[in-house]
Amino acid sequence: MATMTGKVALVTGAARGIGQAIAKKLAAEGCDIALCDLKAEWLTETVGLIEAAGRKVKCYEADVSQSAAVDAVVGGVIKEFGKIDILINNAGITKDTLIIRMSEEDWDAVISVNLKGTFLFTKAVARPMMKQRTGAIVNVASIIGLIGNAGQCNYAASKAGVIALTKSAAKELAPRNIRVNAVAPGFIQTRMTDVLPEEVRKKMLDIIPMGRFGQPDDVANVVLFLAGENSSYMTGQVLPVCGGMVMQ
Ligand SMILES: NC(=O)c1ccc[n+]([C@@H]2O[C@H](COP(=O)([O-])OP(=O)(O)OC[C@H]3O[C@@H](n4cnc5c(N)ncnc54)[C@H](O)[C@@H]3O)[C@@H](O)[C@H]2O)c1
Repeated sequence: MATMTGKVALVTGAARGIGQAIAKKLAAEGCDIALCDLKAEWLTETVGLIEAAGRKVKCYEADVSQSAAVDAVVGGVIKEFGKIDILINNAGITKDTLIIRMSEEDWDAVISVNLKGTFLFTKAVARPMMKQRTGAIVNVASIIGLIGNAGQCNYAASKAGVIALTKSAAKELAPRNIRVNAVAPGFIQTRMTDVLPEEVRKKMLDIIPMGRFGQPDDVANVVLFLAGENSSYMTGQVLPVCGGMVMQ
């Protein structure tokens, strides 16, 4: 039975992978969905999935690291849907290499999309959610933000930043009944990880106690929990979804 009927959810980076799986699950639970990605035409497949669930869906084109574009998306969603109940900050990128080889551009790009993008969308929805006196924000961090990783200093720093942002926003917004939580996925099979060399994938598999890579739905299930009423007394929390790679 649908448990989130009447809610409006905005999902960034929804064209594929984890974002698409989250949008599909939220729609199956009854949410109307605003989808955001770099190019609106990339969202066609996700739109089909939401429509198949019988929910309203609209697409918004934006680079999450650009404040004017982010404000335009949130303004557009409020105009079209009348409110935003749920924000999923999912858009993210990697540009991996060792510190000694990492360019300033690659550092800036990853911090801008993963961390600044999460800040900009959180800021943009905060005021409408405060007026509503209700809201749920779920940030997609990473276990790499908890444990670090050689070759991913920019990514690890961005995701550690997302975790600190999650906790700070949770403290600021809790008095207005807005909850802010994060998931920290481990190794999930998407285009982001498909590009990794076979030996890296094998090494990863060796350190996953459950002995398998995660699927986008594994993450989406936990995001759904954090976005919905079943987690109504949780805020500022970071839930690893990693087959036991990290145990807190
Ligand atoms: N795949 C994993 O193993 C894994 C593990 C931990 C965390 N994550 C995180 O999960 C999230 C989703 O990753 P994924 O694996 O589905 O990756 P993906 O590359 O398959 O999808 C990322 C999506 O974000 C969009 N995007 C990228 N830059 C954007 C920008 N500037 N503005 C708007 N949209 C943008 C892409 O177009 C794409 O649709 C990311 O934040 C990623 O860091 C992934």
